[in-house]
Amino acid sequence: LDVAAIVPAAGQGRRFKTKRSKLLVPIGGKPLLAHTLSNLRRSYPFKEIIILTKKDDVSRLRSLLSRYGLSGVRVEEGGRTRAESVRCGVRAMKSAARWVLVHDAARPLVSKKLVRRTLDAARATGAALCAMPATATVKRTAGKVPTVVATEDRSALWLAQTPQVFRRSALEARYLALGRKALQATDEAALFDGSRTRVRVVEGELSNIKVTTPGDLAWLRFHGKAGVQ
Ligand code: CTP
Ligand code: MG
Repeated sequence: LDVAAIVPAAGQGRRFKTKRSKLLVPIGGKPLLAHTLSNLRRSYPFKEIIILTKKDDVSRLRSLLSRYGLSGVRVEEGGRTRAESVRCGVRAMKSAARWVLVHDAARPLVSKKLVRRTLDAARATGAALCAMPATATVKRTAGKVPTVVATEDRSALWLAQTPQVFRRSALEARYLALGRKALQATDEAALFDGSRTRVRVVEGELSNIKVTTPGDLAWLRFHGKAGVQ
């Protein structure tokens, strides 16, 4: 498949609670997002890789990428939401790639296996994501002080990860159909909810953690594969 990779990295990292961007925290002497990009780049021969960042950070990120031998990665300006940043990336594509792979900058341990598995699944229906099956018992709650309303059937529940892969024409068609509504989606697969495209789900990886809170970083450092400790 001819695939362009889009990496949203324009977030505020609010839940991480540090002044410095969570995507720049050093792991093994290298910023988190440099791990993401080098792991992603070696996972597949992408036609192009586009990373989206905040307007003020564009030039700083470009010099960071060249410092880590990642100058082949293109830096563009993202948007106000994650979904808008990804849409900026799709619009900035220069290649004629017919497939788009979206991967969070905040998931540094993406593996070649996972990328290949997700791409293979997408080939069948035009869309796929990786996700973890819910292993805990899942409770639905209500109220400010939460109380249980119901116990969900966990066998059908999955926790979405990235990479997510889409036929480019299908993704662009959803942007057109949904307009501004597309900007609130918390992942790209959600754009296909209620559409005719079936989004395949393949099993994700526990190590493919999204660094969201300070605790996630501790987890990453403790459990991470060689090279990220
Ligand atoms: N992202 C983005 N543009 C935005 C918001 C988020 O490109 N306007 C990116 C983030 O940089 C991150 C990915 O989307 O790589 C997943 O988002 P998340 O983990 O929620 O990161 P943040 O939005 O930065 O964190 P928070 O929600 O805690 O503020
Ligand atoms: Mg966010």
